[in-house]
Amino acid sequence: MYLPDGLITALKSSRKVLVLTGAGMSAESGVPTFRDAQSGLWERYRPEDLATPEAFRDHPQIVWDWYAERRDNIRKVSPHAGHAALVEMEQYFEKFLLVTQNVDSLHQQAGSSDVIELHGNIMLSICSETGKPIEDDWIESNPGRPPVSPHHPQGLARPAVVWFGEALPEGAMNRAMAEASACDICFSIGTSSLVQPAASLPFIALDAGAVVVEINPAPTSLSSKAQFSLQATAADALTAIAADLARCK
Ligand code: OAD
Repeated sequence: MYLPDGLITALKSSRKVLVLTGAGMSAESGVPTFRDAQSGLWERYRPEDLATPEAFRDHPQIVWDWYAERRDNIRKVSPHAGHAALVEMEQYFEKFLLVTQNVDSLHQQAGSSDVIELHGNIMLSICSETGKPIEDDWIESNPGRPPVSPHHPQGLARPAVVWFGEALPEGAMNRAMAEASACDICFSIGTSSLVQPAASLPFIALDAGAVVVEINPAPTSLSSKAQFSLQATAADALTAIAADLARCK
């Protein structure tokens, strides 16, 4: 893939990198994005109808089953060449922070060392009343859909993800914003730049004078603002960047 002149030069003169990723980063691993049409059982639901505390309160089984199906799908997939390229790129920089909106742990599986999960992790469970973690063996040994919680008489097990209207994990966004205002270059990969506060990170980096690189086959609200907007898939663009960096670093 051809990379625009100036991109590798900007990378060569950078020490601190922030990478923001979204569902498009996992698409080539086989995880559908949020704005892709829902399929099968979930065709008649919008993600934002299912990913809320209200939906869980009113329809706990429907919400639990939706997440159970997504968990099963995620167990079957693995990181792709784009995830591996991000791991490879880490070695060329003093600081390389990965901030993901994804809940699928694919970056960690690929070996990324410094990852902030802004929207939680779908494979983990917590108590709906206390927020306390619930171990997998409790989930496996308690058949309910969802299982009851061991921590509270009215509690149910729920996925440890951030639902619409809920706060992000304590400190995660503060650290991401601090790093965005201190980075030399900020990547925005596979995100529609629609959901706040994550979508504000590349704009914080821009305002702080950083170079912003967007990787997305489709345009977003960030495309016209980014210094480099690569209309390509995550795997294609990141493997090309890692290869060029290896050649010149
Ligand atoms: P979206 O589904 O909104 O956007 C995915 C983006 O990835 C789109 O802009 C696609 O064009 C792009 N894309 C698709 N395939 C790609 C590929 N192979 N390589 C690169 N880009 C590709 O997902 P997010 O922006 O991540 O929040 O959505 C943000 C948040 O909204 C999610 O984290 C979730 C959702 O509701 C919560 O659940 C709190």
